[in-house]
Amino acid sequence: MSGDNNTFLSMRNVKIEYTSGHHIVQAVNDVSLDIERGESLGLVGETGAGKTTIAKAIMQILPVPPAIFKKGEIWLDGQNVVELSETEKIKIRGEKAAMIFQDPMTALNPLLTVGDQIGEVLAVHNPKMAKREIMEKSIEMLETVGIPGERFAEYPHQFSGGMKQRVVIAIALACNPELLLADEPTTALDVTIQAQILDLIKELQKERKMAMMLITHDLGIVAEYCDRVAVIYAGEIVEYANKEELFRRRRHPYTKGLFGSLPSLTGNEKRLSPIPGLPPDPTHLPMGCKFAHRCRHASPECKNREIPLVEIAPGHMCRCLKAHIKGGD
Ligand SMILES: Nc1ncnc2c1ncn2[C@@H]1O[C@H](COP(=O)(O)OP(=O)(O)O)[C@@H](O)[C@H]1O
Ligand SMILES: [Mg+2]
Repeated sequence: MSGDNNTFLSMRNVKIEYTSGHHIVQAVNDVSLDIERGESLGLVGETGAGKTTIAKAIMQILPVPPAIFKKGEIWLDGQNVVELSETEKIKIRGEKAAMIFQDPMTALNPLLTVGDQIGEVLAVHNPKMAKREIMEKSIEMLETVGIPGERFAEYPHQFSGGMKQRVVIAIALACNPELLLADEPTTALDVTIQAQILDLIKELQKERKMAMMLITHDLGIVAEYCDRVAVIYAGEIVEYANKEELFRRRRHPYTKGLFGSLPSLTGNEKRLSPIPGLPPDPTHLPMGCKFAHRCRHASPECKNREIPLVEIAPGHMCRCLKAHIKGGD
């Protein structure tokens, strides 16, 4: 699954903690995943599962401290970003990978025009580019995301939420990254414009043949916008497969639970059944399967030993001793 020329991102056994007072939060626990060039991977899981931490680790923008990168490798286009110097990291950010955050307001500087914010990124990565060229390119980027070039000299507060997120996308794409990390890019937006923004991201991703990691807690979004899916629970990948395989033959009880809490598309004959209980306390993770205390199939063995991520069908990985149990969702 990794190591060939087509793999753009390869995370290997990444473990990340945060120190929080006297406690250690085990945020990301031995995560390995790959994204091929041009491919779109959905990273799905509840709040607190470790999704944003993974994306920030790829960008090398974790707040250290409190974050501690305990171990692992993050290969981006053949370079292990963990080992790069700060100067090299700055170059990678924007050119190899760029990130869109959940809330466009925190990503934008209220004191700078949107045009200047795009220009700033271009200038950092192209120190020799003339002012005029930077301005032309910034206007072109605005138009690429559906904002009229004339709005170049306006400030963020003059834009609606959806338009602000378009500006954020323009900034992210200004230096032609090969991987886009989109961290719940529409959660903070009005539902009526969520699809517009996701469609725009998808269209640009296809056009530019970018790889993408789309972070979401919404399986509906995964169904529409991703090629492959990694389901993450308590900092661990619990299931990993291509989208069709996962939607047809999901095997992990947590994944099944996520599907069970989706509204039925065929009407209301199937009631919503949210997963009972809560995720474990990340400062005191249990032994064995982290989902066992919420799982109706769990046996003592599930709680007594570490459960490996096993390939249960070609390209379909699952971290569950009961993966052979059919149905139940
Ligand atoms: N700066 C931080 N300091 C301490 N703990 C943090 C910090 N950022 C995230 N965490 C903790 O790390 C875990 C994973 O968080 P996060 O990566 O934000 O998850 P997600 O994006 O899936 O909601 C959570 O338990 C969260 O509380
Ligand atoms: Mg998050």
